Amino acid sequence: MLNYDLGLDVLLGDVGAGKSSLVLRFVKGQFLEFQESTIGAAFFSQTVAVNDATVKFEIWDTAGQERYHSLAPMYYRGAAAAIIVYDTTNQMSFERAKKWVQELQSQGNPNMVTALAGNKADLLDERKEASTYAQENGLFFMETSAKTASNVNDIFYEIAKRLPRV
Ligand code: GTP
Ligand code: MG
Repeated sequence: MLNYDLGLDVLLGDVGAGKSSLVLRFVKGQFLEFQESTIGAAFFSQTVAVNDATVKFEIWDTAGQERYHSLAPMYYRGAAAAIIVYDTTNQMSFERAKKWVQELQSQGNPNMVTALAGNKADLLDERKEASTYAQENGLFFMETSAKTASNVNDIFYEIAKRLPRV
């Protein structure tokens, strides 16, 4: 088996969008109904088999609270991939996600693989607006649920497929 290091992956998005829940689901297979709001940022790593190789994810889970916004560049600047998470039941959270896309497009690494995750999909039917928006902005789009585990592994695997292996 070949081993690949994918570099840093950063999760960005509004407070309560479910960034920590997605990471917790991906890394530990768990979900908490009352997940605590992240302070600063948290680091996780996870090694998974993708086809006939093992790939290592190193993940920064950032805090969505506005007072931590100024810290974000520290985490996304060195990142190979970003997952911008919003809550599908919350329009403000989608607007916040668009702001993150703009910030990454103007200040992030231009080679960054960027995913848009419409999380809490268990609470709502798919919305067309987001997939159109993602297409127009060169993002790949998936609706996820940290609660039911729907598309959680998949979004990380899609990133792995798109990243150069070093
Ligand atoms: P900050 O750390 O404050 O930026 O928030 P966050 O984006 O990390 O959100 P977090 O993972 O803490 O989730 C916020 C709340 O939403 C928690 O109560 C979770 O249980 C809930 N939640 C997260 N993902 C899902 C989901 O897919 N479905 C449902 N129904 N609830 C979810
Ligand atoms: Mg969090």
